[in-house]
Amino acid sequence: MFEHATDWIELVVRWVHIVTGVTWIGTSFYFNWLNNHVRPGDDLEEGVAGDLWSVHGGAFYRVVKYRVAPAKLPKILHWFKWEAYFTWISGFCLLGLVYWLNASTFMIDNSVHPMAPWMAVLIGAGTLVGGWIVYHLLCKSPLGKQPLVFGILMFALIGGAAFGLTQVLGSRAAYIHIGALIGTIMAANVFFVIIPNQKVMVDAMTKGEEPDAQLGIDGAQRSLHNNYFTLPVLFIMVSNHYPFTYGDEWNWALLIGISLAGALTRHWFNVRGKGEKNVWVLPVAAALMLGLAFVTLPKTYADHPPVEFAEVRQVIETHCVRCHSATPAADSGFTTPPQNVMFDTRDQIAAAANRINTQVVVTQVMPLGNLTGITQEERDLIGAWFYQGAKTDLE
Ligand code: HEC
Repeated sequence: MFEHATDWIELVVRWVHIVTGVTWIGTSFYFNWLNNHVRPGDDLEEGVAGDLWSVHGGAFYRVVKYRVAPAKLPKILHWFKWEAYFTWISGFCLLGLVYWLNASTFMIDNSVHPMAPWMAVLIGAGTLVGGWIVYHLLCKSPLGKQPLVFGILMFALIGGAAFGLTQVLGSRAAYIHIGALIGTIMAANVFFVIIPNQKVMVDAMTKGEEPDAQLGIDGAQRSLHNNYFTLPVLFIMVSNHYPFTYGDEWNWALLIGISLAGALTRHWFNVRGKGEKNVWVLPVAAALMLGLAFVTLPKTYADHPPVEFAEVRQVIETHCVRCHSATPAADSGFTTPPQNVMFDTRDQIAAAANRINTQVVVTQVMPLGNLTGITQEERDLIGAWFYQGAKTDLE
C-alpha cells in the first residue's frame, strides 16, 4: 500500500518536473532565438533596438526589443520565473524521493565506497549548496568577465565534481547529482540574480529614474551561462536510460565529453542565430560523440572457454534471486521483484539475457550496490555466456 502510494507520488512529481522543465527550457530557447533574430530597421520607434515578425497558429506577431527599456512601462509586464522555480522544486522533490530516501539502495555502491546512508545524502546536499556558492563567487570575481576562461574553468570544476562523486557514490547517483548541481545553479541564477536585478531595474523606472545598466549586464552573464548549461543538463537528466554511460569505468570523463558536445552544439546555435557562419563547431561535436561511442566499445570474449548454463544460473542464484524473484528474500528490502524482473526459472533468465549482460557486465550496476559482493570473474562468466549466444542447457 505504502509502496503503491509512493510510486504514484513519484509519477506525479516526475510528470510535473518534465512539464515545467520543458516550459522553462522552451521559453529560454525562444527568447534566445528572439534575441538572435530581432533586426534593426529604418522605421522603428525611438529607443528600439530591433523588431521581428512571425506567424504562428494562424496569427501574426510583431515583437520589438528595446535598447534598455521603454520610456513608459506598460500596465502588464510578463515575467518568466515560475517555470524555473517549479522545475527546481519538483526536481529537488524527485531527487529526495528517488535517491535520498532510498540512499542505501540508490546512492551507495559498496564496490565504489561503503558508507552510511546519511553520509551519502550529506555529500549529495553538500554538492548542491557548495557548488552554487563556489560558482556564485567565481561569477563575481574578475574571472567572471572573461567568458571563455570562465567556461573552461567551469568545465574543470564540474568535471572535478563528477570525478569526486563517482569515487564515493554509486554511478547513477553521481551522475544525477551533477545534473542536479547544474540545475540548481541555473535556477539559483534566476532566483538570486536575474529576477532580483530585473526587479530593481523595473522599480527604478517606475520612479522615473534611469535603471543601472550593470544590473542588466550581471543578469545577462548568468543567462549566458544558463544557455550553455541547458543541453548538458538535459543529457544528464535522461542519462538514467543509458547505463553504458554512467556504468562505464570512465563515467566521469564521459560525462564531461558528452557535456562538451552539448555545449558546442549550443554554441553553434548561438553563432548561427547571430547570422555568422561556422563550419567546424557542429562536426567537432559530432566527431566527439562518435569518438566516445568508439572508446566505450564493450569488450569481447573471443578467448573465453565455453560457458555452461549451470554456471551462469549458479551466479544468478547467488547474486540476483534474493531481489529478483516472485518472492524476494525478507531482508532484501523488496516485497515485489524490482521492475518485475525475475530469475526464478531458466526461461526467465534466458529471456532477459540481453538485459542481464547490460546490467552485470557492461555497466556493472547490478547486483544493486554490489550488496552481494559479485567478483569480476563472475561478471566475465556472464559476459562470455552472452557473447557465446546465451545458450541454456536445453540447446
Ligand atoms: C538488492 C537487490 C538487487 C539485487 C541483489 C539485484 N538487483 Fe537487479 N534490480 C534491483 C532494483 C531495485 C532494480 C530497479 C532499478 C531501477 O528502478 O532503476 C533492478 C533492476 C534490474 C534489471 C532491469 C534494469 C533494466 O533497465 O533493464 C535487471 C536486468 C537486473 N536488475 C538484473 C540483475 C541481475 C542480473 C542481478 C544479479 C547479478 C541483480 N539484478 C541483482 C535490485 C537488485
